[in-house]
Amino acid sequence: MEKFQNRYTRFGFIPICIGSIALVVLLSRCSTSFFDYSLQKFEFSFPDTELLQRNVYTTNAGEEEEKKNKAAVVVVDSRDVSQQILSLRSTNSSVTLQSKPGKPNRRNLVEEGLAKARASILEASSSSNRNNTTTLFKIDLPNPEIYRNPSALHRSYLEMEKRFKVYVYEEGEPPLVHDGPCKSVYAVEGRFITELENRKTRFRTYDPSQAYVYFLPFSVTWLVRYLYEGNSNAEPLRTFVSDYIRLVSTNHPFWNRTSGADHFMLACHDWGPLTSHANKDLFNTSIRVMCNANTSEGFNPAKDVTLPEIKLYGGEVDPKLRSSKTLSASPRPYLGFFAGGVHGPVRPILLKHWKQRDPEMPVYEYLPKHLNYYDFMRSSKFCFCPSGYEVASPRVTEAIYSECIPVILSVNFVLPFTDVLRWETFSVLVDVSEIPRLKEILMSISDEKYEWLKRNLRSVRRHFELNDPPKRFDAFHLTLHSIWLRRLNLRLT
Ligand SMILES: *[C@@H]1O[C@H](CO)[C@@H](O)[C@H](O)[C@H]1NC(C)=O
Ligand SMILES: *[C@@H]1O[C@H](CO)[C@@H](O)[C@H](O)[C@H]1NC(C)=O
Ligand SMILES: *[C@@H]1O[C@H](CO)[C@@H](O)[C@H](O)[C@H]1NC(C)=O
Ligand SMILES: *[C@@H]1O[C@H](CO)[C@@H](O)[C@H](O)[C@H]1NC(C)=O
Ligand SMILES: *[C@@H]1O[C@H](CO)[C@@H](O)[C@H](O)[C@H]1NC(C)=O
Ligand SMILES: *[C@@H]1O[C@H](CO)[C@@H](O)[C@H](O)[C@H]1NC(C)=O
Repeated sequence: MEKFQNRYTRFGFIPICIGSIALVVLLSRCSTSFFDYSLQKFEFSFPDTELLQRNVYTTNAGEEEEKKNKAAVVVVDSRDVSQQILSLRSTNSSVTLQSKPGKPNRRNLVEEGLAKARASILEASSSSNRNNTTTLFKIDLPNPEIYRNPSALHRSYLEMEKRFKVYVYEEGEPPLVHDGPCKSVYAVEGRFITELENRKTRFRTYDPSQAYVYFLPFSVTWLVRYLYEGNSNAEPLRTFVSDYIRLVSTNHPFWNRTSGADHFMLACHDWGPLTSHANKDLFNTSIRVMCNANTSEGFNPAKDVTLPEIKLYGGEVDPKLRSSKTLSASPRPYLGFFAGGVHGPVRPILLKHWKQRDPEMPVYEYLPKHLNYYDFMRSSKFCFCPSGYEVASPRVTEAIYSECIPVILSVNFVLPFTDVLRWETFSVLVDVSEIPRLKEILMSISDEKYEWLKRNLRSVRRHFELNDPPKRFDAFHLTLHSIWLRRLNLRLT
């Protein structure tokens, strides 16, 4: 650990300046309050409608040439980013393309595959099939109520299984690249990278010309751990990411071809959005898969993907949250529950109105030592999930695991899998301005409605679980599916 620390700390200081490093204005905020309350107003459309029609990129003749000549580029295949960056600086790194006539155009095959997938999804999502109870999706998606369009989702998922291929860049070395945390709050970062890299997953391709998307496999959590200087200076992180993109865009033709539109990064750490400022195309064009999906910080649900934040202790969920009969039968004497630090914009409001006010609604700042957090979740009908420093919180998945209906209290947060799930069928979305009326709102939910929400919550649990190895329709695969949907919305012509 010590060794890595020194090494990468030093590396952070190497003044790496090939060409000009675009210093991005840190606080550039896209639309402030674009959505007052994102969930109510924002409806992501499944790619059967307008987003699918978007033709985003037209490449010029030169790039057309590149497409025809895959694998003709000079690829530096060392896995040491710093070395490569240094060597690129001192050598002639111009990329040569030679034409190899007669080779089938693999890019076209990818685009054809996407076109077929779109047509197939459109067909499945047509209204006559929508509520066809005899259709096969019932086996895979037994509770259709929780999905926006179950037959479209089902078809899209099958198409993904059939076609979707991810190319993982090999540049860089662990721990900053090809590794990530597999425990604690940011576990999903490490788990995703590991699944795509280490397992013989059907979704990985080693032939970049067959790829539908390209993965930049660095871990923001590890960048923070190894490069952060401890004085609020995130510059070394951005320098690293900027150099990493420079490296892959020089070694391969793929980034430049679309300005990164068919590339994705993945981060659960709070600083994911900040780090993505390192490169303007990464921020504005690429698919950013992040837990902190704050639309006020430029999160764009049409191209970015919300990653669920899933807290794992020794790599597992807490035993009290494992699915079981005792969990389902757990009596729920409390109406609502929250315990947590007072930070960020929403929690002070919740605490101000409800901290230790009402015995039916235990709301604590910090839970007294002798009380167990998960026991409270298991004994409450509703669990408050206010944003903290950042919009995302592992509470949402913990509430789902404990069969405690999540009460979402956040602003500008695009919830995970909003592209396919109907959150209103298994959670309660309360506008922050309504916090003073919280009890009234929960009391007005009938027993029937509560039971319905709870039934749906049980059905949705598997979509928020990480499995080892991954299972169909679990959090790993639905995240991949969200990326697949963003790619379906791109047509490279
Ligand atoms: C770099 O490549 C260009 C184009 O192939 C060539 O003209 C030039 O001489 C090369 N420079 C060096 C330093 O090798
Ligand atoms: C479901 O079926 C009913 C009756 O067949 C039909 O009226 C309705 O439009 C269908 N709903 C959808 C969403 O297709
Ligand atoms: C429902 O789906 C089945 C199986 O795909 C199909 O045979 C049937 O024609 C469909 N019915 C309607 C009304 O679309
Ligand atoms: C991509 O563009 C960058 C900046 O314009 C350039 O330095 C790099 O050589 C290009 N990469 C390829 C493979 O042509
Ligand atoms: C994204 O694009 C907008 C508009 O072109 C620009 O103002 C902004 O600086 C870009 N963001 C980044 C991080 O480069
Ligand atoms: C979302 O981003 C805005 C703009 O930076 C910020 O003011 C707000 O606090 C963020 N929300 C949360 C919960 O962090």
